[in-house]
Amino acid sequence: MPTPLVIDTDTAQDDCVALLVGLLDPAADLRAITMVAGNVGFDQQVRNAFLTLNVAGRLGEVPVHLGCRAPLTRAWVSAENVHGDGSGGLRMDQSGLEPESEHAVDALVRLAAEHPGELSIVAIGPLTNIAMAVAKDPDFARNVGSLYVMGGSNNGRGNITAAAEFNFYVDPEAAKAVFAAGFDVTVVPWDPLTLRQAVFGQERLDRIEAIGTPLSDFFTDVCAATLEFDRSVGIDGTTHPDSLTAAVLLHPELVRRSARYHVDVETAGELTRGYSAMSWGVHGLEPNATVVEEIDAEGFHAYLSGVLATETVPARKITRSV
Ligand code: RIB
Ligand code: CA
Repeated sequence: MPTPLVIDTDTAQDDCVALLVGLLDPAADLRAITMVAGNVGFDQQVRNAFLTLNVAGRLGEVPVHLGCRAPLTRAWVSAENVHGDGSGGLRMDQSGLEPESEHAVDALVRLAAEHPGELSIVAIGPLTNIAMAVAKDPDFARNVGSLYVMGGSNNGRGNITAAAEFNFYVDPEAAKAVFAAGFDVTVVPWDPLTLRQAVFGQERLDRIEAIGTPLSDFFTDVCAATLEFDRSVGIDGTTHPDSLTAAVLLHPELVRRSARYHVDVETAGELTRGYSAMSWGVHGLEPNATVVEEIDAEGFHAYLSGVLATETVPARKITRSV
């Protein structure tokens, strides 16, 4: 039976690829897309989500709920310097495309409560919506079957600062609340996992471009700005932590090694805002999360290539802005 899930996203670049996974993998039953402030301007993220639904040939089939437009207590921090507009400059007529009137936090609470223990959430942006749902419904963490989080680093480098990964840096208070809430949570971290095993270098990117479907063209376009940024900071390819997070939920066989950790997030540090303290069992702290440590990297590339090989018929014409 396909896995019922919601993707909570700040849709830009790899978030778009993660949505394709949720929309096109037969193992997924994507019940909703919930939007949270993160990578690029909120309204642009929403446009990117509708664009992705269109390229997947699923426009109008999956509800899009607007969530928190800012972190819990702090000002929004953008990653437009990394992702541009997050769509590679792709455009389509968005007239008539309306998000749901129900707020994302209400939708998350409702969907989890409708089938307690069955819904999975793939959270690939700042954790603001998830923390708000925890605050709103004391049963939320218990009602969610599993929560897959892209964020933090496992005693490794950050990306937005030396100490912090972007999703946890943007809303550290939310991330801290989520790890204290009692979810069955699995973490896909930035370093070392993403940097070692979910970077697609030129040879892998060439193989994807050669697939020649609307989806592989879309992938190349949405990843172009990030590729340029990554190379400028010494990463030799595009990074895919968000699509990896969706993939490991649907295909746990991609995980070669994981371990239980106590994960907490720094909210008070001057230089360490959003730092994820991942304690590996020798500091007297109860584990509260499973952290993915190693994946089948070639298997992940092959899996995504399979998703991108799907022949889809976008209902609306997509153009590239100059
Ligand atoms: O740090 C990586 C995360 O922030 C990903 O979710 C990506 O979307 C990003 O900008
Ligand atoms: Ca993201």
